[in-house]
Amino acid sequence: MSEPTGKFIVVEGGEGVGKSTNIDYIKVLLEESGKKVVVTREPGGTALGEKIRELLLDKDGAAINADTELLLMFAARAQHIAEVIMPALERGQWVLCDRFTDASYAYQGGGRGLPLDRIASLEDWVQGALCPDSVIILDAPTAIGAQRVTKRGDKDRFEQEANAFFERVRNTYLQRAESDPSRYHVIDASQPLEQVQSSIKTVLTKILSV
Ligand code: TMP
Repeated sequence: MSEPTGKFIVVEGGEGVGKSTNIDYIKVLLEESGKKVVVTREPGGTALGEKIRELLLDKDGAAINADTELLLMFAARAQHIAEVIMPALERGQWVLCDRFTDASYAYQGGGRGLPLDRIASLEDWVQGALCPDSVIILDAPTAIGAQRVTKRGDKDRFEQEANAFFERVRNTYLQRAESDPSRYHVIDASQPLEQVQSSIKTVLTKILSV
């Protein structure tokens, strides 16, 4: 595989932290600075991945074993990397992805309590040397996210989890960010949107200058 030339930017966070609005904003900022941007998401991003997403998010489906859930996330990811992410990076495009492997550590590791070394083995197998250049974590107290999700209406399989689950998810994201401050950027998503976007702009200026 040839060396990727574009950059791989991931946006993460708990439920209801405003990922979609802010991903649209980041795309505009990147395009304004002349980058070609592919926006994609996980689980999903390919025809097969979107089918896997439906199975994973279906609140009325059969119960899913935690290992199965993790493996489905990585099955969708393997397809996504092969079909979308690597080809875009090799074309010199920037990939802006709504969630990636940090979500597996946060949700399946932190949330479900699966051993982190199991996730690390899958990461190694499925990704090889591929690793996001920057991860922007939109962070907010779980109560704020829960309020926004409730306002949106119908909850998916993950959104129906208890608050303790989302506390573990949030803590895992924050721990991962602490372990590598050069690659992770934590944004306080409980601020008014204007301030969130101003913080995002500062982070992106840094990313674009490297
Ligand atoms: P969202 O992208 O619309 O927020 O929904 C995707 C859901 O999937 C979200 O609740 C987080 C969850 N998820 C995992 O549990 N593990 C993963 O590896 C990924 C990518 C997502």
